[in-house]
Amino acid sequence: MNQSFTILAAASALPARVVTNEELEKCLDTSDEWIYQRTGIKQRHLVTDEQNVDLATSAVEKVLQAAGVKAKDVGGLIVSTMSPDYLTPSLAAAIQGRIGAENCFALDINAACAGFVYGLKLAQWLLNEQRYVIVVGSEVLSKLVDWQDRSTAVLFGDGAGAVLLSNDDCGYYLADDFKSFGKQWQALTAGHLQPLKQITTDFYFQMDGHKVYQFAVNETVQSIQRALDHAHLAANDIDYYLLHQANWRIIKQIAKKLQLPIERFPMNMQEVGNTSSASEPILLAKLQSDIQRGQTILFSGFGGGLQIGTAIVQF
Ligand code: UT7
Repeated sequence: MNQSFTILAAASALPARVVTNEELEKCLDTSDEWIYQRTGIKQRHLVTDEQNVDLATSAVEKVLQAAGVKAKDVGGLIVSTMSPDYLTPSLAAAIQGRIGAENCFALDINAACAGFVYGLKLAQWLLNEQRYVIVVGSEVLSKLVDWQDRSTAVLFGDGAGAVLLSNDDCGYYLADDFKSFGKQWQALTAGHLQPLKQITTDFYFQMDGHKVYQFAVNETVQSIQRALDHAHLAANDIDYYLLHQANWRIIKQIAKKLQLPIERFPMNMQEVGNTSSASEPILLAKLQSDIQRGQTILFSGFGGGLQIGTAIVQF
């Protein structure tokens, strides 16, 4: 494929409030030991009065500033979220209005935790027409969490990440793989909108943890393998595997199946929890200064849908 696709900058915005596992111990029948051993999470950031648009706009403003690009020159704004402030207007429209990106093709997408990688794919298409495109993953998952349910409440966090892309030929989009498993939709749901004006328990996260875990390990390895094949690369040719930060056990198993050292798989769920589609851009923002031009990065996201997406880019 080898399409010009340069990551100019990545930035994140996290709510100021940090909630540690120890704090959750006080209100739930759980323990720091259980949460850390089973997931790798030590703390998460949760909103107090910030809205999703506040986090997302902050991340977008930071990437524009970092790259010295003006909002009016941005031709595309793709926002991945499963937790928007409103069903309409879209988060993308709200951000576009706030930053004054007046020449912008702006829309939201929802592929749950795989959404950021789907956003990269749409950006790759848009970059045929536009010089600059921004992909955002932004989530306020705390409003979809039942805080009485320890099986999900300990997992999720809030935050936003944004990536500014250009069609300069410093970097390239090499290959990808996308697959949906909609028959398994019941394994992970949230935000069910009822016809009557009532909120029932399935408004909140419901997850068959075991099923999603097995799906994540098995399908991610296969998706990575297909994307590598498309790019004519071996697993060892990838410098960094930036995977959805749901659970370090999932990532360790994927590394083992690919017979790669775990050091190739950076992780930050310790600090931010599972932030769904925001997890990969938040991680990229943290790592970007360590990545050299010319290195190869593989992004892979998996989750609700069930859906999976993998993209390989040369930085
Ligand atoms: O981001 C979208 C994609 N999502 C994922 O990838 C998540 C995939 N699934 C997972 O990561 C794991 O399945 C979980 C972290 C959600 C759960 O880990 P697990 O090792 O599968 O635990 P489990 O559900 O088998 O529960 C083991 C035990 C149970 O007790 P019993 O039945 O053995 O007595 C649970 O009731 O742990 C109990 N448990 C807890 N204990 C303390 C469940 N949640 C908690 C908790 N604190 N928070």
